[in-house]
Amino acid sequence: MNQDLASEIRNKVDIVDIIGERIPLTAKGKNFFGVCPFHEDTNPSMSVSREKQIYRCFSCGASGNVFTFLMNYEHKNFKEVLKELGDKVGINTTSISIQKSSSQYDIFYDIYNFTQKYYQNNLNSVEGRDARKYLEERKIDEAVIKEFGIGLSLQVRDDLIKLLQKKKYDLMTLNKIGLAIDDHDVYSNRIMFPLYDTYGRIVAFSGRIYQNNSQNKYVNTKETVIFKKGSCLYHYHIAKDICRSEKSVIVMEGFMDVIRASTIGIRNTVALMGTALTDEQIKLLKRLSQHIILCLDGDFPGRHAAAAIGKTLMDEGIEVKIVTLPDPDDPDTYILKNGKDKFISLIEHAINYSDYKIELLKENINFQSEKDLSKYINSVLEETVKINDEIRVEIILKKLAKDYNIGYNTLEKRFQDLKEKKTAPKIKVEVEKTTRKDKYQLAMEQIIYFMLNSNNSWVIEEVEKENIIYPTNEERLITSEIIYYYKRNRQFQLADFFTYLQDKPNLLKLLNDIVSQNYIEQVDKKDLFTYFKVLRDYSKQKQILHLEEKIKKESNPDIQAEISEQIRKLKLGE
Ligand code: CTP
Ligand code: MN
Repeated sequence: MNQDLASEIRNKVDIVDIIGERIPLTAKGKNFFGVCPFHEDTNPSMSVSREKQIYRCFSCGASGNVFTFLMNYEHKNFKEVLKELGDKVGINTTSISIQKSSSQYDIFYDIYNFTQKYYQNNLNSVEGRDARKYLEERKIDEAVIKEFGIGLSLQVRDDLIKLLQKKKYDLMTLNKIGLAIDDHDVYSNRIMFPLYDTYGRIVAFSGRIYQNNSQNKYVNTKETVIFKKGSCLYHYHIAKDICRSEKSVIVMEGFMDVIRASTIGIRNTVALMGTALTDEQIKLLKRLSQHIILCLDGDFPGRHAAAAIGKTLMDEGIEVKIVTLPDPDDPDTYILKNGKDKFISLIEHAINYSDYKIELLKENINFQSEKDLSKYINSVLEETVKINDEIRVEIILKKLAKDYNIGYNTLEKRFQDLKEKKTAPKIKVEVEKTTRKDKYQLAMEQIIYFMLNSNNSWVIEEVEKENIIYPTNEERLITSEIIYYYKRNRQFQLADFFTYLQDKPNLLKLLNDIVSQNYIEQVDKKDLFTYFKVLRDYSKQKQILHLEEKIKKESNPDIQAEISEQIRKLKLGE
């Protein structure tokens, strides 16, 4: 594919500059070090090598070349990054078509684009008068309408599909992508908000009523191949760039809230569009930021959703803060009533999840009842156990002791008991996680590591000659990819090999794993053969074990004799 172009561009940029423009790097010896942006950390565990043009993090195992860095750091795809760097160094990248990569669904995106323009046009027509008035009353002006692509579907229920059919889109397709039901439009007489995917392509609509009637307030496009409600976060495609500099993302309930916030210049926002948080949405949020500010509606359901969603996100290791709006405001109405400065101040004073939870626990507690009070204290302690900050814990315990006149030591003891209970099982998990690789696998990875060093291409040839029995299938595959790559290019460049493997996520993961280990760099023939011997011995031992098991299960003495002859030969090394 674009391998050669990629390699040409990569050779013109310096990974140290590109990463250094984004995170501070300090030189130490041959390498540069910085705080890895791909996991939560404050130590400089990421090293960037000018010589090898790669980065690797010894803590989280992230590694790669300048392209993979930008793809992960800026949430872009390969072609976007290639274009960006190509422009930077003056290499023509017009041969790369970004749109084209999106394949078989192009026609669906075309239809949605066309439809959005049509809807927007309706808003400016005579029939759009009432809708315009509605938007004006809600203080949604021309600029906002443009920015968010807001439009209008008309009362007649077949104008859109007639138009689309004239453009040669067939009815079956229109049904399939949720714009038609049988032979009429899905949407009629609603204000239309386009919904975008993570790349900013329109993939659905949400239509809102604007006249007093008893229909559903919002109607969303049904799920299609290009639109899954559960993996949608409104405004993600815009927020993804802004969250980088803002260092946080604000999560709201509705897209009207996000639209309103943008009118006062707050754009590091996304909307859940309903309150249930899915695993896909959690993944997307994590890609935006490790610091999430929940700013949901101020009503009872909103407050409880904040607690539930906050807990889910906390369990994912995300730092969660919460803004409470006065009941029944949502961010939209709050900003309209109180203005920009008040809202910004609310965001700046967002409180930690655990403080919020402790406040919320007070709801429905009758403090006159001893039973209620003790239930409350216990649940506060259970929350406090989750806090990793001794000073804050002490403040909370002292306040509890004072407010409810309970001995501090009693609380402290209870707290310690709970803490022990909580931490006990965790230790077990950690032990399991660090199960070491066996000698066989270590030898294999070390050999692969040698092959990755461009000064060691003779190793690649030796490995090809050696008849290796690979510990895992993936190790076998990656080795053959290295050999193939080397033969084709007559040299081996690790930084380009990352690009070469990008469509093979399993192998890329293994490559990351190996590159981010502290293996030995240089090797001579004698060492290499020692590693080969380790592999041979191990595989021999495994075969012997396997045959010995087989003998035990075998009842036919002739076959038994045959197997023990095989074992004897293996042991003699024949
Ligand atoms: N929603 C929906 N269907 C509904 C109601 C709500 O899909 N019948 C989704 C919408 O995506 C909406 C979000 O849930 O953006 C939040 O709902 P709500 O708070 O009721 O909407 P608001 O943003 O307050 O909308 P508005 O201000 O226009 O009433
Ligand atoms: Mn609202």
